Amino acid sequence: MRHLLDTTEFNKSELEALIALGREMKANPAAFRTGLAGKNIVTLFEKQSLRTRVTFDIGINRLGGHAVYLDQQNGVMGQRESVKDFAMNLSRWCDGIVARVFDHKTLLGLREHATVPVVNSLCNLYHPCQALADFMTIAENYDDLSKVKLAYLGDGNNVAHSLLITGAILGTDVTVVSPKGSGPDAQIFNLAAELARQSGAKLAVTDNCADIRGFDVAYTDTWVSMGDNTPMDAVKDKFMPYQINQALLDNTGIRHVLHCQPAHRELEITSEVMDGPASLIMDEAENRMHIQNAILHTLINQA
Ligand code: CP
Ligand code: NVA
Repeated sequence: MRHLLDTTEFNKSELEALIALGREMKANPAAFRTGLAGKNIVTLFEKQSLRTRVTFDIGINRLGGHAVYLDQQNGVMGQRESVKDFAMNLSRWCDGIVARVFDHKTLLGLREHATVPVVNSLCNLYHPCQALADFMTIAENYDDLSKVKLAYLGDGNNVAHSLLITGAILGTDVTVVSPKGSGPDAQIFNLAAELARQSGAKLAVTDNCADIRGFDVAYTDTWVSMGDNTPMDAVKDKFMPYQINQALLDNTGIRHVLHCQPAHRELEITSEVMDGPASLIMDEAENRMHIQNAILHTLINQA
């Protein structure tokens, strides 16, 4: 039984196959109308969502399956009943579980006790569906992912972690540019660096935007993630030098921009760039649906 808790569970050729399938599903939706026919998938959310909720629901419908949404009324899993009981009950009814949780350990518990595939749709450590949509979007614009240089600017969070790991497996150079003390988790960076040794990807962490001159793609995310109660005003000045704006694109020569959204316009990214010609952000949002369909199709129809 295969799951997707983070992208380390797939090797390079398997990730490439997922991206290729996502692109095929986007190009030829009619061929996949029964891809999940008769399958029921529960989508659990401990946190807010727009893109993830809607793309899983509509995506599953497009493949002929049925999605059951469990919202935040159910609160944090493990409170009303144990994560184990959640997983064992759901497994008796559904063919797959998609879960957005506060704590990665909840996903480990679901995976341990479920008898159906579990997909991480964001936790404190990773956001693998997002990273796969991001690399699918990059692949739509660059023929060879091993020649792409991706710069992530801002908080070294779950999204940064998944980009580092996925880039490391696929052979894409990834540099995280963060203020001192806000970089990615050292253990996750080391894990990504280990994977990069096999693919030849170059990974780095820096606090200097000059280090990403000549890069191809700039990426950013919120400076305060869900579950962190720090007021934006308390961190804004520290992060402002890492804003993606036109001056950054001019100084670095970077041609394309990504943002997982939700965006805080005029904070981590300016509207000028988000709505401008370098932005691939809405393609990226659309691709969440196609890549997630590729993930579900692959995991739920596994032998
Ligand atoms: N990017 C993303 O996961 O968006 P939502 O939080 O709206 O699902
Ligand atoms: N890092 C953000 C991503 C939102 C999609 C968060 O966890 O809130």
